[in-house]
Amino acid sequence: MDLFEYQARDLFEAYGVPVLQGAIADTPEQAEAAAAKIGGTVVVKAQVKTGGRGKAGGVKVAHSPQEAREKAEQILGLDIKGHVVKRVMIAQGASIDKEYYFSVLLDRSNRTFLSLCSVEGGVEIEQLAVERPEALAKIPISAVSGIDKAKAVEIARAAKFDESLVDKVADVFVKLYQVFEKEDATLVEVNPLVLTTEGDIVALDGKVTLDENAEFRHEREAMERDSLDPLEAKAKELDLNYVKLDGQVGIIGNGAGLVMSTLDVVAYAGENHGNVKPANFLDIGGGASAEVMAAGLDVILNDPQVKSVFVNVFGGITACDAVANGIVGALNTLGDRASKPLVVRLDGNNVEEGRKILADFNHPLVSLADTMDGGADAAAELANR
Ligand SMILES: Nc1ncnc2c1ncn2[C@@H]1O[C@H](COP(=O)(O)OP(=O)(O)OP(=O)(O)O)[C@@H](O)[C@H]1O
Ligand SMILES: [Mg+2]
Repeated sequence: MDLFEYQARDLFEAYGVPVLQGAIADTPEQAEAAAAKIGGTVVVKAQVKTGGRGKAGGVKVAHSPQEAREKAEQILGLDIKGHVVKRVMIAQGASIDKEYYFSVLLDRSNRTFLSLCSVEGGVEIEQLAVERPEALAKIPISAVSGIDKAKAVEIARAAKFDESLVDKVADVFVKLYQVFEKEDATLVEVNPLVLTTEGDIVALDGKVTLDENAEFRHEREAMERDSLDPLEAKAKELDLNYVKLDGQVGIIGNGAGLVMSTLDVVAYAGENHGNVKPANFLDIGGGASAEVMAAGLDVILNDPQVKSVFVNVFGGITACDAVANGIVGALNTLGDRASKPLVVRLDGNNVEEGRKILADFNHPLVSLADTMDGGADAAAELANR
């Protein structure tokens, strides 16, 4: 689970990582009140789970509560890479001398934890890693010993921090590792970690990903409620395996492997149709019933970004007639609210019955495809109309 910046900020604070005051606001009025409470210059920051917010106009300085209200008005509702801003954080303004980068993450390919650190932070780290790899220190971290003070000092020196700062930043690294370890995170990233003109080290931005496999060890209900996209929350309630993506073609399939390859063929077909992309991953699972199919369609059709839907099912334990009945049921329930074209490709168990059910239903929004590639192409074309 990825956290919003304000949730990361709150976690950091709980572990003693130096952060500035911050308050969330869902309306311009709340933003004004929060800015008045914090006082002085503040920064209004879009709370979306994607990078590059600053570049997209989602991070703005305000010198008065009135200005904070205006900036919040501009940022709320903004679309940043397909993520609509519903909430902003009002952060106390820092007077920045230098911006650094620090992260600790799970390095799957090397089966270890890894810390990345640079004195050239603030910028996109992916870019720095490509253009000037020597400016980014990469230190493997043992899961047994973690980042103690000695390791933290090693990281700071490898990143070429000024000797007079090493001790100070090292203390912060140790605390950030505490967050990583105690919260069962797979990523803790601070970009930028700053040196203020007063000489303090402060985490100005935070990205945290928590390992859902460790959920049982933590009390995270409230955090989860706040953190999940409404569609993801609904899918979770319905026990669906759903991940929202940035594109326009809704995808439903059975079995994770089939759904993943469906994402690939849709992305590929999309190259010929205005570069449309998959809008989600949704696996209704083996043995899915008509109800599950209907629930899945309901989630996807409610995504305003979805322009067309591709249902790609290979009937095994889940028979194609059950899938077809699920589609009919969902469209009947949705009635006029169903306004997006559906391309359906069925194969396998009971395929003839399934196709017949859909042919008899004869819904103007539903078309049948014979092959996976053909279906992907048709769905991409419809999304691009
Ligand atoms: N509280 C603050 N006070 C002063 N300047 C800030 C503050 N927060 C952010 N900034 C400035 O804005 C820049 C961008 O902020 P931030 O890192 O939070 O967003 P971003 O990097 O654009 O978004 P993302 O990290 O999602 O890519 C920072 O590098 C910093 O220079
Ligand atoms: Mg940042």
